[in-house]
Amino acid sequence: MAKEFDVIVIGGGPGGYIAAIRAAQLGFKTACIDDWKNEKGGPAPGGTCTNVGCIPSKALLQSSEHYEHAGHAFAEHGIEVKGLGLNLGQMLSRKDTVVKQNNDGILFLFKKNKVTFFHGSGSFVKGEGQAYSVKVSGATEDTLTGKHIIVATGSNPRALPGVAFDEKLVLSNTGALNINAVPKKLGVIGAGVIGLEMGSVWRRLGAEVTVLEALPTFLGAVDEQIAKEAHKLFTKQGLSINLGVKIGAITPGKKDVTVEYTDDKGASHKTVFDKLIVSIGRVPNTNGLNAEAIGLKLDDRGFVAVDGDCKTNLPNVWAVGDVVRGPMLAHKAEEEGVAVAERIADQHGHVNFNTIPWVIYTSPEIAWVGKTEQQLKNEGIAYKAGTFPFMANGRARALGDTSGMVKFLADAKSDEILGVHVIGPMASELIAEAVVAMEFRASSEDIARICHAHPSLSEATKEAALAVDKRSLNF
Ligand code: FAD
Ligand code: NAI
Repeated sequence: MAKEFDVIVIGGGPGGYIAAIRAAQLGFKTACIDDWKNEKGGPAPGGTCTNVGCIPSKALLQSSEHYEHAGHAFAEHGIEVKGLGLNLGQMLSRKDTVVKQNNDGILFLFKKNKVTFFHGSGSFVKGEGQAYSVKVSGATEDTLTGKHIIVATGSNPRALPGVAFDEKLVLSNTGALNINAVPKKLGVIGAGVIGLEMGSVWRRLGAEVTVLEALPTFLGAVDEQIAKEAHKLFTKQGLSINLGVKIGAITPGKKDVTVEYTDDKGASHKTVFDKLIVSIGRVPNTNGLNAEAIGLKLDDRGFVAVDGDCKTNLPNVWAVGDVVRGPMLAHKAEEEGVAVAERIADQHGHVNFNTIPWVIYTSPEIAWVGKTEQQLKNEGIAYKAGTFPFMANGRARALGDTSGMVKFLADAKSDEILGVHVIGPMASELIAEAVVAMEFRASSEDIARICHAHPSLSEATKEAALAVDKRSLNF
């Protein structure tokens, strides 16, 4: 006998689990199916983000930053550390504990909100009349029927053609978060978000890290001035960043992996790495969904095809998160999940794609919202810019973390904020003020007139807003 639901969510990552909770809050009888297994084979909801993405990477970024500070930055504060050691096993196990706390938290939230959780793989069987039938295969087998379906099956790492991830020598994000001895030489293909975050972790722990990037520009999506600053700082930290590289043969051996590549001047190289991280983007995951059974349309890149409201080609079938177009970010997936649940309830769920913040959790962090200077130029929009360096911020000096800046871009006529870019300490937190300001269509003068606590990093935001009108007070 099929179990009947108003809403069935397939996938329990940030897109899916949040959609399920919101649907249940709105009074729908809701199921969420997720197939992720922990090391004991038990349920581990939270998807890529919780298990092998946002959460474990940030845990290791934090631990490795503490290690680097203890080794290098504490002395300046008059703190002497003798006999500093690295217990990598403990660092990895702490990361696993943080992941488990998040898995358990989601299971608790399902109970609290009366979402019925099914641990297994969900695949479409058929669509009939007003309902869809979904089979769950896993520890137990079930058949569910639902009036509304939300597909939130996420993404998988993209492999280089002919080079499979073995997670021992050739690592995706999964293996990169679980290296059990610091590699002497670590290769990273792709200078994107994962390459820079994971490259930073292992560099801080002692690896010699070489990043090989195909494009001639560094962090092309980031504001050029900020990207230039980041390149300078990361290179100074010891990351070897090679741009305009063409990757050739990759040959895994018994204990190492050989990478052949041509550099931007056409010279050939053959380098042996102890480990190789391949972080060249991610592909949508529709494996096992049996989309054909109901005629669910995918686009030519394999994403579930949706309109601006996350509606698919089928009535009452929706899709959110990494499996659809748009940035592959956990908070974008969550926003879409909430919006879809609210649309199912005939409310006006909305996602503002212009105000989705981006953060790269390197040190210093890079965060931005809205347009870059190069985008404004390309779009022919007249703008004013204001920057303020953390070097001139009292709190940053007290912290001993003065690299980077805040940059405002505002409309030349109306002064409306069009983009805010931060490279520096706690950029991930500072960007929230800019997101709020842009949501409320504030002007740079609005921020400049708001009282910011002293001494705080947020004063750099106010000062950058003042700089738009060429009236910074502290620089
Ligand atoms: P996912 O999180 O991928 O979840 C999909 C879930 O569905 C998975 O559990 C999957 O196993 C399950 N599933 C798939 N098919 C089925 C099926 N047929 N039946 C049942 N279950 C199924 N984003 C940020 O915003 N901030 C960050 O700091 C950040 N850091 C990251 C670090 C790394 C190393 C990586 C790889 C990604 C990071 N991301 C970050 C991106 C973020 O993880 C994704 O954007 C986010 O997880 C997408 O959420 P989702 O719900 O769409 O998909
Ligand atoms: P990415 O798109 O950020 O970067 C991939 C890089 O690899 C690009 O610079 C690209 O030019 C390069 N590349 C592609 N093919 C190549 C090749 N053959 N040889 C050399 N270089 C090549 O993708 P990444 O780092 O894999 O991360 C995937 C996604 O996960 C991100 O785009 C982001 O959406 C999400 N993510 C978000 C994080 C955050 O919010 N802090 C952290 C980590 C991941």
